[in-house]
Amino acid sequence: MTSATPPLPRRSPRARHVDLLSKGRGRERVQQILNGISAFGALLVVAELRIADHLADGPRKVTELARLCEADAGYLRQILRVASSLGLLRTTNQPDTYTLTAEGRSLRSDLDDSMLPATLMAATPFWMQAMCALPETVRRAEPALPQPTYEYLADNPDARALFDWFMHTRTAPVAQAIARLDFQQARKVVDVGGGHGVILAKILQTHPHLTGILLERPDVAESAAIYMAKLGLQDRCEVIAGDFLDSVPAGGDLYLMASVLHNWDDENAGRVLRNVRQAMDAERAGPAQAWCVDLLRPVVSVQVGAPPTAVLTTVRMLSLFRGGHERTRAEYETLLAANGLTVTQAERLPGDMHLMIAAVPPAEDASEMPQHRPAAAQSTGRPFPGGAS
Ligand SMILES: C[S@@+](CC[C@H](N)C(=O)[O-])C[C@H]1O[C@@H](n2cnc3c(N)ncnc32)[C@H](O)[C@@H]1O
Repeated sequence: MTSATPPLPRRSPRARHVDLLSKGRGRERVQQILNGISAFGALLVVAELRIADHLADGPRKVTELARLCEADAGYLRQILRVASSLGLLRTTNQPDTYTLTAEGRSLRSDLDDSMLPATLMAATPFWMQAMCALPETVRRAEPALPQPTYEYLADNPDARALFDWFMHTRTAPVAQAIARLDFQQARKVVDVGGGHGVILAKILQTHPHLTGILLERPDVAESAAIYMAKLGLQDRCEVIAGDFLDSVPAGGDLYLMASVLHNWDDENAGRVLRNVRQAMDAERAGPAQAWCVDLLRPVVSVQVGAPPTAVLTTVRMLSLFRGGHERTRAEYETLLAANGLTVTQAERLPGDMHLMIAAVPPAEDASEMPQHRPAAAQSTGRPFPGGAS
């Protein structure tokens, strides 16, 4: 039997060569992406065995490190070689001896912005399961997980404690930058889904005239209250256990939502924003603001091969939270506008995070509370003028 397929046209040797090269490049790119798994394995060893802590005071021989970490020196040596080619460690002029690089130092457990908890969190069974289940998640249009992520964290206090440590270290540099902004016109800051309160605490410590309310899930509120008390802020900060999808406390003139909206689809993010908007309406002492802090997804497709964090975190969000994703600035503006808020100002924060300040649109605001609008807000459109100092 002869084949019905017509013979392929003959290609020049040069065209065939170009073809082969580009096929090779395609394979190489996929291999590079796959290599990320091995790189993550090596990073995990460095993190779990606290190599950065053991090298904090200076270089050590592999055998000494192995003894300190209760690990096998032969296995460890192989992994440290990989970790050093990843730029986390480097060898010294002493034989079989390693020291930390600046990148490796970021894994020390004692740093306020340590990358250790982020690494450990990524390796937890739930986070791993979420990533491996991503194809099914994409089919179902919801995380293919046994329970919603925040419920899982509520049922697993150790995982929740690690998550809170991770959020603390991720948010600490952002908290510093936010606390440097101008809060002179504000009196009460409401931190909606504030976690342990790392941002709110920094704001209150920096601006003694302010008081705060921290709204969190009941399983987190208790430890947030302990954190605030440890910093001596218990008299200036009320911690409320509640659900921001149901309501948000009234009485604030600045409503902060940091790394909150990207956990939710537009429908539920809209619910949170409407509750904030309603709480702002209830406040009649002055024009309140909503401060949204999140990564901003770049609009244009970025350079191939090294997408920035704000592109890749959508993968993490979708894997863990129904409809969670990073948004572009335009998408935030649309989302906020659909829920009665207009972005008046944006500030760049560390780590590709951004602050978008939103207020009730002027016409609506003017009709509702004209007599309380400060002169500065009328002239600049920025109700709390200022900016990063
Ligand atoms: C990604 S974390 C951000 C924490 C903090 N704002 C920060 O930037 O470090 C989101 C927080 O929202 C809280 N959260 C989730 N669902 C909530 C709900 N329905 N009501 C109140 N808080 C909630 C979580 O417990 C978590 O602490």
